[in-house]
Amino acid sequence: MTLKKILVTGGAGYIGAHTVVELYASGYTPVIIDNFSKSDRTLLEGIEKITGKSLIFHEGDCADRKFLKEVFEKEGDLDGVMHFAAYKSVGESVEHPVMYYQNNLNSLLTLVEVMKEHKVNNLIFSSSCTVYGEPDSIPVDESAPFKKAESPYGATKQMCEQILEDAVRADKKLKVTSLRYFNPIGAHPSAMLGELPIDRPNNLVPYITQTAIGIRKKLVIFGGDYDTPDGTCIRDFIHIVDLAQAHVKAIDKLLGKNEDEHYQYFNLGTGQGVSVLQLVKEFIEVTGVKLNYEIGPRRAGDVVKTYANSAKVQTELGWSAQYAAKDALRDAWAWEKRLRGLTT
Ligand code: UFG
Repeated sequence: MTLKKILVTGGAGYIGAHTVVELYASGYTPVIIDNFSKSDRTLLEGIEKITGKSLIFHEGDCADRKFLKEVFEKEGDLDGVMHFAAYKSVGESVEHPVMYYQNNLNSLLTLVEVMKEHKVNNLIFSSSCTVYGEPDSIPVDESAPFKKAESPYGATKQMCEQILEDAVRADKKLKVTSLRYFNPIGAHPSAMLGELPIDRPNNLVPYITQTAIGIRKKLVIFGGDYDTPDGTCIRDFIHIVDLAQAHVKAIDKLLGKNEDEHYQYFNLGTGQGVSVLQLVKEFIEVTGVKLNYEIGPRRAGDVVKTYANSAKVQTELGWSAQYAAKDALRDAWAWEKRLRGLTT
């Protein structure tokens, strides 16, 4: 039996790399592309250590049509694509909106065209709960409307989903599943793989672990005066391994017989709303380390509170989150320590 081959764009990034591990574990053959614009080779080494596989990898930009065509031609028999390659920082997107539109839209548009040319018809797209904007009610389910995005990053995800829905409508062979992530955190339990921002972290948990280990002086919690129980924002923090496993369920379903629904979308969250301050306190409790933090001003572009209703993905893909936030924090800390040579 030939193993199903899946192209993974952004496979050296945080979510992509964890998903590659789960793809191997489920008998797929991932083909990774990455341009290292927001990642480096460390995570590829981590994948190799965990899986014992020697990776199939092509270095290049997903928006580079010539490069992408070469990969499709060389790999020949791709069964599907998982598209992770995108910029993902809410704050950065407010400062550099054009760069975000340019990168996130062009890579998707190029990919969809090249897929069509090569008759590759199955796509899993990395979407985000930011497509809902500030939701009217929480937990938010998939029937919630796309309200005005709070950031250019969120807008790119809304636009990408619209592009895909239209493309699917026009092309009966194309099948797409968009996965709307809530907040992925944590690391592989082996501590061989985790989040590795190449510059100053924008996301909360790498900022926490880098502060705890002494790379950063202080964690600033962005806003303590929101209309929430403790004044800080509320998120649905989902363990990265849970999130990665959901991708395998999604591609299994997409490659199976599924004639009716060609554009599908699912929330991926735990269903638990946790405040930023709660998460910080939980980190201190779970790890026993000191953390220097203070409440500072709000960050532009932040949604105030959101967490998922994940009933749809549970019913239709048979997936639900298995790990708790404390597991993710423990694993993130183990990864940070290993990365900085603090454990053997
Ligand atoms: N935060 C801080 N201090 C920091 C960093 C973050 O207080 O140093 C706060 C933010 O203000 C926010 C919360 O922690 O309230 C989470 O912020 P992140 O930057 O970690 O995550 P976001 O919710 O902004 O966005 C993340 C990813 C997106 C993804 C989204 C939902 O960055 O790519 O979750 O899926 F789309």
